[in-house]
Amino acid sequence: MNLAILSRNPELYSTRRLVEAAEVRGHSVRVLDTLHCTIHLSEAGPELHLRGKKIEDLDAIIPRIGASITFYGLAVVRQCEAMGVYCLNGSVGITRSRDKLRAHQLLAKAGIGLPVTAFAHSADAVDDVIKAVGGPPLIVKLLEGTQGVGVVLCETKKAAESVIQALRGLKAYLLVQEFIKEAGGSDLRCLVVGDKVVAAMERKGADGEFRSNLHRGGSASLAKISPKERKTAVQAVKALGLRVAGVDILRSARGPLVLEVNSSPGLEGIEKATGKDVAGLIVQYIEKKVER
Ligand SMILES: Nc1ncnc2c1ncn2[C@@H]1O[C@H](COP(=O)(O)OP(=O)(O)O)[C@@H](O)[C@H]1O
Ligand SMILES: [Mg+2]
Repeated sequence: MNLAILSRNPELYSTRRLVEAAEVRGHSVRVLDTLHCTIHLSEAGPELHLRGKKIEDLDAIIPRIGASITFYGLAVVRQCEAMGVYCLNGSVGITRSRDKLRAHQLLAKAGIGLPVTAFAHSADAVDDVIKAVGGPPLIVKLLEGTQGVGVVLCETKKAAESVIQALRGLKAYLLVQEFIKEAGGSDLRCLVVGDKVVAAMERKGADGEFRSNLHRGGSASLAKISPKERKTAVQAVKALGLRVAGVDILRSARGPLVLEVNSSPGLEGIEKATGKDVAGLIVQYIEKKVER
């Protein structure tokens, strides 16, 4: 196969591992810096260029689109789709996963477990949304936050009101969400490839931290997950229309609750915690989908 990874940095662990996994399997693979790809459109059809040269004969791309370049990254993925190149995750799925409200709407529609969540435009509705999630303690989160930044735990109604008003004053959109206390600052990251969870780790927040993100000092270990958790993770990825994703799940008293579906999941934490060759499994999955 002729494979390309859309990534800003060939030195990143995930990018390096995907290149390695593709080469081990005898594929030709290159890393395309997403922001240096240019989009060319004419009646002759869509073309993708890199530094003045047309990119040809691509069989598949693996989009690794960081949150900071979502707009341009998605345009490049759409261009590949228009060119008939197999995209491991499509532009629609990536778009859905980037907006927490949109993702939760799709999860709720599919009947997948999620923390009770509310959203409003008007500051007048603050009382309503606080009530909807069962009152404090509650979580307020920015729609497009990542790595735990933009997720706030409000212990009291007063704190919640102030945080919501302050963020709305900055024109930020936010979700108000039930706080799942019994998760105890831990969550599960399930790496889904196609219709399987190929690796799962438990992430535990640093002392006194309710956020388990590794970027916030959380630690990871191999997790054994239940059939229900497995099914929930796979269903969540399907509901968003993705093929490969990292699903964050809280273990609650009423079962697994999906927090987030990440369409460019990092591989370092999960490969190191589980010892699984996730990059290899991703390349194998693409091999099955792209016949030459
Ligand atoms: N409703 C919640 N109840 C309990 N913990 C939560 C809740 N929402 C988020 N968290 C904790 O905060 C972390 C970050 O939240 P998340 O929604 O995944 O945002 P981000 O995109 O910034 O990672 C989660 O991994 C989890 O540990
Ligand atoms: Mg997260």
